[in-house]
Amino acid sequence: MLDKKVAELLNTQINKEFYSAYLYLDFSVYYEEEGLDGFANWYKIQAQEERDHAMLFLQYLQNNGEKVTLDAIAKPDKELKDKMDPLQAALAHERYVTSLIHDIYEAAYDKKDFRTMQFLDWFVKEQGEEEKNAEDMIKKMELFGSDAKGLYMLNSEMASRVYSAPSFVLD
Ligand code: FEO
Repeated sequence: MLDKKVAELLNTQINKEFYSAYLYLDFSVYYEEEGLDGFANWYKIQAQEERDHAMLFLQYLQNNGEKVTLDAIAKPDKELKDKMDPLQAALAHERYVTSLIHDIYEAAYDKKDFRTMQFLDWFVKEQGEEEKNAEDMIKKMELFGSDAKGLYMLNSEMASRVYSAPSFVLD
């Protein structure tokens, strides 16, 4: 059995990760409509990764005999008017998710719940990578995105992203 607060935060994180998937799918739809299929591909794959994250939290709770409660997933509500908007919204969102992971870590730390802390270690590292990816995409867009050739090049780069299952799995 996990501590009640830790279990609640882990359960809430399932919803947050599914919302992240939904948000990135919305970005993918936006870029597809803008004719930027590479950016659309990048965010569609990102949405897949977020679903993987959600399933890891779900599996961890089940492995620990905890009840899982699935809540409604909020509608993606970011206003997307410009090609830069999803990139900036993604960075802000990833920083928010990092704060959520840290909150769970802190709750686990308070309860000396070393098992949950070890489970969360992968997510702490993953968040570092996701924030860096989001920052790099903004930098590249600032540098090259205002020029048609540069944007074409960036779109091609984003098109080459392929899905790979998370490096962390739970039995
Ligand atoms: Fe699941 Fe992008 O954090």
